[in-house]
Amino acid sequence: MHSTEPRTIWWDEGLWLIDQTQLPERYIPLKIESIRQLVAAIKSLSVRGAPALGAAGAYSIALAAERSHAGNAFDMIAELEVAADMIRRSRPTAINLSWGVDRALREASEGESIDEIRERALRSAEEIAEEDIRINHAIGRNGAKLLEDGETILTHCNAGRLACVGWGTALGVVRSAAELGKRVQVFACETRPLHQGSRLTAWELKEDGIPVTLICESMSGSLMRKARIDKVIVGADRITRDAVFNKIGTYNHAVLAKHHKIPFYVAAPLSTFDRMNGEEEIIIEERDPEEICTLGGVRLAPLGVDVYNPAFDATPLDLVSALITEKGVFRPPLMPPI
Ligand code: MRU
Repeated sequence: MHSTEPRTIWWDEGLWLIDQTQLPERYIPLKIESIRQLVAAIKSLSVRGAPALGAAGAYSIALAAERSHAGNAFDMIAELEVAADMIRRSRPTAINLSWGVDRALREASEGESIDEIRERALRSAEEIAEEDIRINHAIGRNGAKLLEDGETILTHCNAGRLACVGWGTALGVVRSAAELGKRVQVFACETRPLHQGSRLTAWELKEDGIPVTLICESMSGSLMRKARIDKVIVGADRITRDAVFNKIGTYNHAVLAKHHKIPFYVAAPLSTFDRMNGEEEIIIEERDPEEICTLGGVRLAPLGVDVYNPAFDATPLDLVSALITEKGVFRPPLMPPI
């Protein structure tokens, strides 16, 4: 059975997603017609956030199968592998992207005819999308137990329903707590340079009627010092055996939280865990300098200035108070069993 919650990405006679580059001004669906267009949508952050990228990765296989003109199953699988490779390489840090691609590709490759491959690819993607919503509700239920009535949460970037197929991870915890009647409120960091916090998190929470106050990330230390923040909750793009990779700036909040003895929680599904690797093995995506140097077409920095623009940072696990997953809450060095 399909859930009736609003989705960020779905299949309806083709692949659709909410174009997140248009928010908060416009909430509009975008139809994806080709793998090339999906790669562009992933790179431009029309679809973004680790779990949503997992679903996008899986749907890419369904899309490639739907669009294929291969004459036999063997040729079709070869085409799917090419598409899979293009999608995997579009953004390197969030492990969910390649996880979703690989899972759908594995399922599809077991098909013995063109029709069966198409059917299996789409079924696998739909399962991943449905699962994502169920898993996020479980993360929400587990995490809500950690929040008390009246607490104020700091979050960074967007780990809400827009970053997933639905409900959200870090914001899913906030939503689940609010659903239980706990009066929680949120400080949302604007999240330079692409403003996922102000454009997406603030928009989502306002839609839900959950009190939200927008701040620049540089304000979190001062708020912690004034005891205005009870807990920090963020999502993750990848959790290796020693670190949490999430939006650049997450590490700063974690260090500040430790100094101020404020719990620092990471909410993520098991599909975000990467047991095979440690921090050193992970590629952190570096993005276009123009993202920092211009805003809405206005130049903010002198032409030709050197720029460093990593999209993510790594927070060592010893700064993390707990990992909130669908299988429960784990306090490092304890990790969820996979
Ligand atoms: O560059 P983005 O917007 O894809 O970065 C997203 C994040 O860093 C999120 O916090 C993370 O993917 C978790 S989403 C539930």
